[in-house]
Amino acid sequence: MTNPSLLILPGDGIGPEVMAEVRKIIDWYGANRGLAFDVTEDLVGGCAYDKHGTPLHDDTMAKAQEVDAVLLGAVGGPKYDNLDFSVKPERGLLRLRKEMDLYANLRPAQCFDALADFSSLKKDVVAGLDIMIVRELTSGIYFGEPRGIIEEGNERVGINTQRYTESEIDRVARSAFELAMRRNKKLCSMEKANVMESGVLWREVVTEVSKDYPEVALSHMYADAGAMQLCRWPKQFDVIVTDNLFGDLLSDAAAMLTGSLGMLPSASLGAPMANGRPKALYEPVHGSAPDIAGQGKANPIACILSFAMALRYSFDHGDEATRLEQAVEKVLADGYRTADLLGEEGKQPVSTSEMGDAIVAALDASL
Ligand code: NAI
Ligand code: MG
Repeated sequence: MTNPSLLILPGDGIGPEVMAEVRKIIDWYGANRGLAFDVTEDLVGGCAYDKHGTPLHDDTMAKAQEVDAVLLGAVGGPKYDNLDFSVKPERGLLRLRKEMDLYANLRPAQCFDALADFSSLKKDVVAGLDIMIVRELTSGIYFGEPRGIIEEGNERVGINTQRYTESEIDRVARSAFELAMRRNKKLCSMEKANVMESGVLWREVVTEVSKDYPEVALSHMYADAGAMQLCRWPKQFDVIVTDNLFGDLLSDAAAMLTGSLGMLPSASLGAPMANGRPKALYEPVHGSAPDIAGQGKANPIACILSFAMALRYSFDHGDEATRLEQAVEKVLADGYRTADLLGEEGKQPVSTSEMGDAIVAALDASL
């Protein structure tokens, strides 16, 4: 048996800093759990542009297509702000998502008890929260044609088109149902079928797919009502599936129920490969944080939890993913805080590498 393969793309800014901590975790699993990965590291974003004149070299793209999973840090920074749109760091990330056809974006909103005070909502509303939003990522209004700004009569008109094919809805719905089966068998689909035809079709197709998952309790909600319910009582949800636009808004809103950007992981999944594993890219939600880059201040937990998602969704080691999440929970409960997790003055934050080391120590203690 060959080891599963992992392509690591640290990227720019704090990307390499948080990824260095993930490397400690990966090494720990190799040394202590017999879980060895074939890891290759490469460039994406501004650093790739500096070396190759493109934010994602063709060879890197080809590698990403071959490996079992890609783990990315973050891209971008002020140094690259004036580059042409076609070579901006973000284009590297967009190319990965597009060519790997990663249509299901998984964004957990999970509240660690030790951070419940950090939420803008009341503690009892968020404590213990653990929900997952599945956002369709490759179609919908961000991609639909026609689009553009045209002249009509004597004024300009801005146009975008919401367009979903049956197969696009079907495949993301299946990802969401599969996820619901692994979790609590509860799925809420959100659209605006009351005012949008694409929403009517969305509701029909999701309902059709549900016949293949009779154990999953499916409900439907209009996305605006869903936004309200997410703020009112988020624990009523388990898995939510929605389109690209609503998913963009709802997942950002849900994420903030739980505190800092430095805590939020994500997974983007595509179709199953020959080995049965989905095409997969794991990355923290945050960007390259140029304001704190190079200072050892970054919170590595978002990237570490992204690796936990890789363990669960690409490598079928849900038990080991849980071990890692519990190690994170433990260091937080023990009071370890990077600067972003410190609301009040006077407390001394831990550095990026101290946080990584504390999580490794908690993993040791879990054996
Ligand atoms: P950002 O997420 O990089 O930073 C927003 C704020 O959150 C900053 O104050 C930052 O210090 C803080 N922050 C972010 N991650 C943190 C962490 N792990 N630990 C502690 N604090 C953290 O978003 P911003 O400032 O809008 O963008 C900065 C650069 O990153 C831009 O070039 C942008 O294009 C790029 N970007 C890249 C993304 C990606 O690679 N997926 C996503 C978002 C932005
Ligand atoms: Mg967004």
